[in-house]
Amino acid sequence: MQPLLIEKGIRPGVALLRLNRPESLNALNRALVAELTETLLQLEKDDEVKAIVITGNERAFAAGADIKEMANDSAIDMLLLDQFQRWDQIKRLKKVLIAAVSGYALGGGCELAMLCDIIIASETAQFGQPEIKIGVIPGAGGTQRLVRAIGKSRAMEYILTGRFFSAQQAAAWGLVSRVVPVELYLEEALKLAEEIASMPPIAVQLAKQSVLKAYELSLEEGLHFERRNFYLLFATEDQKEGMRAFMEKRTPQWKGR
Ligand code: CAA
Repeated sequence: MQPLLIEKGIRPGVALLRLNRPESLNALNRALVAELTETLLQLEKDDEVKAIVITGNERAFAAGADIKEMANDSAIDMLLLDQFQRWDQIKRLKKVLIAAVSGYALGGGCELAMLCDIIIASETAQFGQPEIKIGVIPGAGGTQRLVRAIGKSRAMEYILTGRFFSAQQAAAWGLVSRVVPVELYLEEALKLAEEIASMPPIAVQLAKQSVLKAYELSLEEGLHFERRNFYLLFATEDQKEGMRAFMEKRTPQWKGR
């Protein structure tokens, strides 16, 4: 069975990637993470794709790294493999990634969802970083991104106990942008991706980069980064088209230039 299913053009400008190891609740083994990363890098170069939705199935987005695969590894195996450098490649992608999460998003699954730009959750979604229960800690960004998403005290509580939290809690705390009925979570994520894909691509890219800088820079540096990008957009044909179309009361035609 293919560990990753790819549907390009499922909506205009949208690609859907479906994690497909249902027998292990989409545990992220090395082959799946390699394929996911390679596919994302290819889609990054594909002009027809403007936004990417990553999903699993109703029962699980992903229940974490594959425990069975790594159980007997040594520290040196881990170091040499350096599996998590693939996650840095995903972090650097310019295109928009939306996680459509239903069921378990645990450990590396929660970390993958947090690596995406937006999370849409079904009402059955459950999030958590349960690594502590198997003798380790989150290794793909959980200790850093969960703190930034839900605050230190809550992140500490959930990382130190390994307990899960619900979609409703995740929404109340700002980890996910929306909770929708389980039959709608993928549809809603695809609709959102299509809407973003219809926006001027360079502006989308620079908006994403600017928002992500809020994680990493001081306010002063972040404001500077934003301002440079705002000014830069006045060099695009799409800025001229967008503002002209507004004044002429018509729909703009984007060129991505
Ligand atoms: N790795 C490998 N296999 C997994 C898995 C994982 N992370 N999660 C589930 N599976 C497998 C189970 O072993 C089981 O396979 P078998 O039928 O062959 O036994 C199958 O998926 C179904 O799982 P369960 O029978 O356990 O289903 P359940 O409904 O009783 O429980 C669950 C669901 C609570 C999610 C439970 O499976 C669970 O706790 N999974 C592990 C979660 C976890 O600890 N994730 C963190 C992994 S470490 C990590 O991710 C590190 C990092 O930072 C990157």
